[in-house]
Amino acid sequence: MPEEGAVMMDSEPGDCEPVQLQPFIHQVGGHTSMLRFNDDTLCKPLIEREQVFYQDIPHSLKEFTPQYRGVIEVQLHEDSEGYITLIGYPPESGKVALPRNASPASSESDTDTASPVLNTKHRHDRPGDPYSVRLLRSGSLEVSTQTEKVFHMNDPKSGKHDKTEGINPWGLKCHKRQLSKMRRVTQGAGSFTSKFILLENIAAQCDFPCILDLKMGTRQHGDDVPEAKKQSHIKKCEQSTSSALGVRICGMQVYQANTQKYICENKYFGRSLTVDGFKRALCQFLHNGHKLRRELVKEIVKRLQALYQSVSEQDTFRFYSSSLLIMYDGVVGNGNSATGSNRQSHSATEREIEHEDSDSNTSSVSEGDQPSNSHYLHHGLISNVDVKMIDFAHSTHSGFQGDKAIHKGPDKGYLLGLENLIKMFNEIHERPLHV
Ligand SMILES: Nc1ncnc2c1ncn2[C@@H]1O[C@H](COP(=O)(O)OP(=O)(O)O)[C@@H](O)[C@H]1O
Ligand SMILES: [Mg+2]
Repeated sequence: MPEEGAVMMDSEPGDCEPVQLQPFIHQVGGHTSMLRFNDDTLCKPLIEREQVFYQDIPHSLKEFTPQYRGVIEVQLHEDSEGYITLIGYPPESGKVALPRNASPASSESDTDTASPVLNTKHRHDRPGDPYSVRLLRSGSLEVSTQTEKVFHMNDPKSGKHDKTEGINPWGLKCHKRQLSKMRRVTQGAGSFTSKFILLENIAAQCDFPCILDLKMGTRQHGDDVPEAKKQSHIKKCEQSTSSALGVRICGMQVYQANTQKYICENKYFGRSLTVDGFKRALCQFLHNGHKLRRELVKEIVKRLQALYQSVSEQDTFRFYSSSLLIMYDGVVGNGNSATGSNRQSHSATEREIEHEDSDSNTSSVSEGDQPSNSHYLHHGLISNVDVKMIDFAHSTHSGFQGDKAIHKGPDKGYLLGLENLIKMFNEIHERPLHV
């Protein structure tokens, strides 16, 4: 059943147009590539366990998970010049649940779409199209974008600094890897279609999403993994904050209002952190380049406490390898969504920062320049703070998919992680660390 606020889109043949899928620009972690279906919906390669888990999620966890919106089939097209396009085909039978007012990503430019393959070249020439992906003669993929968002990442594994435009560097890496894999399979089979699940894009309400991906729990391996994989998961937990805290960082991006760039961290950064380093990283997540967004902490803690309550009610559930996304908008002030005016909202942020600074006598902003709703800004009420669980491919519970192992009680490792997050965020609120 679709949730309230969603309409079922019948996907009879010819009823649903094919949709050109773009890489999702705010992917901070994971290994598969998340694709953008429309403003509000992402797709992810279908893993049966995860799909079934989403279809049957307990009621009290629903407010902490992205809405599940069905399945599409995805095909890779490559033209003679090497341009690659991913096209999503809503299935001929079955239904796709889309939120009200949502339209597929390509709908406004579909008037000349007799065949998506024929139109791939024209599409990326259009001013409104943010991406083109092209296979170079060297075998590597070139991704061009027309957006101005800049992302910086230090990769502790390679020791290199990555700077990308228009897309998070980790997301870009995942996207290239997935396209190469899909090309290989397509070439081998002549033509190839794979299934993806559609999920609510929980970053959609933010103009400048700041996202923390936390792998939760003291254990990551599912009950069915091969021994070697199990040992490698155990080692990663022992050598990171997973064992001590029940949580480790797996990816992060934070918008810096002073430089107007995103600072990103990857899973290798997360694995290298000590307990103190983890706490400093939480401060980094809340820091916008000018100041620590302390006003958001209470809202984050409130959501974490509510989630704690829900997870503690889930008897036999284990969320191995799942992630918790903590998110807020790096730019506040106009309450607009992702489709809103970034320029406007940015000037509001600048005003807020100056207003904040004026408390410490460093600003020259006059009373008249302060936003009338500044007390809302201070309380984080329009910063779209959200906390959502994702990635359920290794989750289980009694009676799930014929799983034999039954775990008693709630997921204690997960709860330990939540407890430590709540404690640390509260400490940061009381005694902020310098980042
Ligand atoms: N529903 C969603 N809304 C917004 N971002 C998401 C959503 N699901 C996943 N992501 C982003 O994609 C990344 C990878 O997702 P995940 O489900 O963990 O994939 P994987 O199975 O490859 O680990 C996350 O770190 C997050 O940045
Ligand atoms: Mg993941």
